[in-house]
Amino acid sequence: MTKVITYGTFDLFHQGHYNLLKHAKELGDYLIVGITTEQYDLSRGKLNVVDSLITRIDNVRASGFVDEIIIEDHPGQKIEDIQRYGVDIFTVGSDWVGVFDYMEQYCKVVYLPRTKDVSSTIKRTDRSPVVQIGIVGTGRVAKRFPKEAKLVSGVNPLGVFNPHGDHAKPFMEEHELAFWSNNYDEFLEKVDAVYIASPHETHYEYAKQAILAGKHVLCEKPMVLKKTEAVELFDLAKKNGVVLMEAIKTAYCPGFNQLINVARSGIIGDICDVEASFSRITTPGMRETEDVKYGGALTEFGSYCLMAVIKLLGKDYKSVRFESVKLPNGLDAYTKVHFTYDNALATTKNGVTVKTEGALIVAGTKGYILAPSPWWLTQQFEVRYEDASKIDNYSAKFLGKGIRYEIAEFTKAVANMRSGNNDVSPNIYMLTRGESIALADIMEKFLQSRE
Ligand code: CTP
Repeated sequence: MTKVITYGTFDLFHQGHYNLLKHAKELGDYLIVGITTEQYDLSRGKLNVVDSLITRIDNVRASGFVDEIIIEDHPGQKIEDIQRYGVDIFTVGSDWVGVFDYMEQYCKVVYLPRTKDVSSTIKRTDRSPVVQIGIVGTGRVAKRFPKEAKLVSGVNPLGVFNPHGDHAKPFMEEHELAFWSNNYDEFLEKVDAVYIASPHETHYEYAKQAILAGKHVLCEKPMVLKKTEAVELFDLAKKNGVVLMEAIKTAYCPGFNQLINVARSGIIGDICDVEASFSRITTPGMRETEDVKYGGALTEFGSYCLMAVIKLLGKDYKSVRFESVKLPNGLDAYTKVHFTYDNALATTKNGVTVKTEGALIVAGTKGYILAPSPWWLTQQFEVRYEDASKIDNYSAKFLGKGIRYEIAEFTKAVANMRSGNNDVSPNIYMLTRGESIALADIMEKFLQSRE
């Protein structure tokens, strides 16, 4: 019996997949197909897969050519499988010619002709045309966006807005965008969506105008600094059929999501305490330490830590209290936020001219999670127990600056919205409307207490 194996994602199953499987089966008597997991695709940088693993398995099975389906979840697995299953022929489409020649040490390698003019990428684009996104702001945060957005399929950074045109034009040139503008209405007309990375206090107005013009909004953290503004924007977004998403990159990263799920799985028992810190000594003279109204440690860096608390313990805390060490101008150089919950506590620590260990610790009744710095770019964490010799290690890929994950989620949410799914929040489970509103509420309470 000749055993044949092939691999793929098989997203939005199409004629090319069908032909490939048919020809693969014709190469032998028994066909095994390895289908990638969501995690594995994410780690390979394939971020916009639409179908779930189960749907992709069902579609491959329905082709009628397959004798066995296996799951591919790590690099190097192909060689393991070939030996484990006693495979005679490894095959893939001709788009991979040469890439798998190294497998000839283990079995025969056949590159089958690829079917022309069809691919999952084309189907994803047909399903939802590329989201043309405009960037609002040209500062340090905005700078990271175009490069990362170009790595996500389904989205294109098209233009940039800054009320000072002399900032926007060089930004456009540096990042090879199609246009710049210093007129917000004209800018909005040219794009499908905006990424807002302007100073905090301008987010609300820019987001509101964009939503009213029917544009999807991805807005840097803190999205707004008042609860009522957050509620208003989400209500407006719903009414206008557009996506509104807060860009706290950690919330959308695979490793952080795994951490949240491990914490909620019961493995550490009941969660009793969350401690999260993030600090950065910023360059003197910058907005973080000079903007006496909106600068300071918590507004600059609080979102990561507060988000982690809200994700782990929920929005319904019983009390929140702030303590700060201040700069001479009244801004907070260092802030601790203390939460009490019915059966748990939480503390966040943020410094803007103070440096402390950046860690996330989740304490439970059976053990604790320790995510070391930089936990906000979660690549690894440990679960530790009373028995100090027992440590479970978890790791996940985190590619680039990490904002590609939030851009991918945003793009997916826009595609869902366009396909008629009008309810925004269930798709954006990684940072829900309620969670973003809770964060705005905490920022508002803090700014009131600082005054
Ligand atoms: N394939 C093919 N003809 C096509 C598209 C895919 O023969 N037109 C083959 C690929 O070469 C691979 C298998 O189908 O052996 C699964 O490919 P996959 O990457 O899942 O599909 P693509 O359509 O290439 O996906 P994407 O556009 O996301 O790269």
